[in-house]
Amino acid sequence: MSKKILITGGAGFIGSHVVRLFVNKYPDSTIVNLDALTYAGNLLNLKDIENKPNYRFVKGDIVNADQIFSLFEEYQFDTVIHLAAESHVDRSIANPMEFVNTNVLGTVNLLNAARHFWEKPYQKERFYHISTDEVYGSLGDEGLFTEETSYDPRSPYSASKASSDHFVRAWHHTYGLPVILSNCSNNYGSHQFPEKLIPLFINNIIHKKPLPVYGKGENVRDWLYVEDHAAAIDLILKEGKLGETYNIGGHNEWKNIDLIRLLCGIMDKKLGRDPGTSEALITFVKDRAGHDLRYAIDAGKLQRELGWTPSVTFEEGLEKTVDWYLTNEEWLRQVTSGAYQEYYRKQYNS
Ligand code: NAD
Ligand code: DAU
Repeated sequence: MSKKILITGGAGFIGSHVVRLFVNKYPDSTIVNLDALTYAGNLLNLKDIENKPNYRFVKGDIVNADQIFSLFEEYQFDTVIHLAAESHVDRSIANPMEFVNTNVLGTVNLLNAARHFWEKPYQKERFYHISTDEVYGSLGDEGLFTEETSYDPRSPYSASKASSDHFVRAWHHTYGLPVILSNCSNNYGSHQFPEKLIPLFINNIIHKKPLPVYGKGENVRDWLYVEDHAAAIDLILKEGKLGETYNIGGHNEWKNIDLIRLLCGIMDKKLGRDPGTSEALITFVKDRAGHDLRYAIDAGKLQRELGWTPSVTFEEGLEKTVDWYLTNEEWLRQVTSGAYQEYYRKQYNS
């Protein structure tokens, strides 16, 4: 069935993988990618699909309610997959208001537009909100986050995402809007802006720059290959139950320092450097304020009810990821260059 799908944040890391999957898999659907092209959004991420007939890019800001309403009017979307967000915890500590604006107000603007344009009884309409496991707070050494875990966000980023989740559920309970949510663990893979742990450290190793490990490197994260996340989103959109939440995770917990040592070893081999060269760049620095100790997802509901499991092992995924950054050093150079960002901003503002 033909659909009109709005994907927000489609020029970012996860969003670009979701856009690519949907554009290629659903040629009869129109996929509109709405993205503000912040520092994290980059049209280079979508070069391979930008000329496909079922794809449109719109530069726009979800905080601008008028723009969102005009876009709904023009395209009459029946599906929203909402990924646009400020996504980096360190930036949220430095500048929380941007996170409140985009993550909270932007989400409510989209909910309002969907409510305004979608007519009851809802049939094929879906508002799918993409969220994070960080809303559940921090685990000790034991236990996993389930869909029943109470919310306990502890950074400005996670508080803004938790707030947006609550608004999405409120629009379901109060107005009956047909929503679905998923909360995912740490993603890794190609096209991730080099501020997050894995691409930052790959980039720093390439340039022999220090690797800043926060605290003692003992925090634990549960890593999922980004294409597995995109596949889960596709499945949940099609088969998930309205009003429900699904946790998505990789069953793949790593202490930061162990992951960093593994990555250093892979990089030494790939770059033909002596063993230990990259590890020598490790520098222990002041800890992140309020640094959550451990995240780990119980993805049992998604597995039991919709049959989803991750398809890529961590060894395969990390190797593919490293290979991608090494063969796309130009991408790394361009996304970190101010001139490039300025070029796109001008092109799409004119
Ligand atoms: P990202 O920072 O790579 O991309 C975010 C995208 O949103 C960018 O393209 C940016 O230009 C766009 N954007 C930002 N503000 C906007 C605005 N006001 N209007 C329109 N577009 C705007 O983020 P990501 O890592 O791809 O994360 C995508 C979503 O998935 C986020 O909602 C995030 O909370 C969630 N998530 C991320 C992870 C992860 O590990 N990266 C894990 C779980 C959930
Ligand atoms: O759990 C899902 C979340 O994962 C997403 O919702 C967020 O959008 C995403 O950014 C990510 O958050 P983290 O804070 O876990 O990711 P980050 O890559 O920033 O950090 C991973 C771990 O590595 C964390 O314990 C902090 C540590 N770290 C990070 C950086 C950037 C360092 O030790 N040094 C660093 O330079």
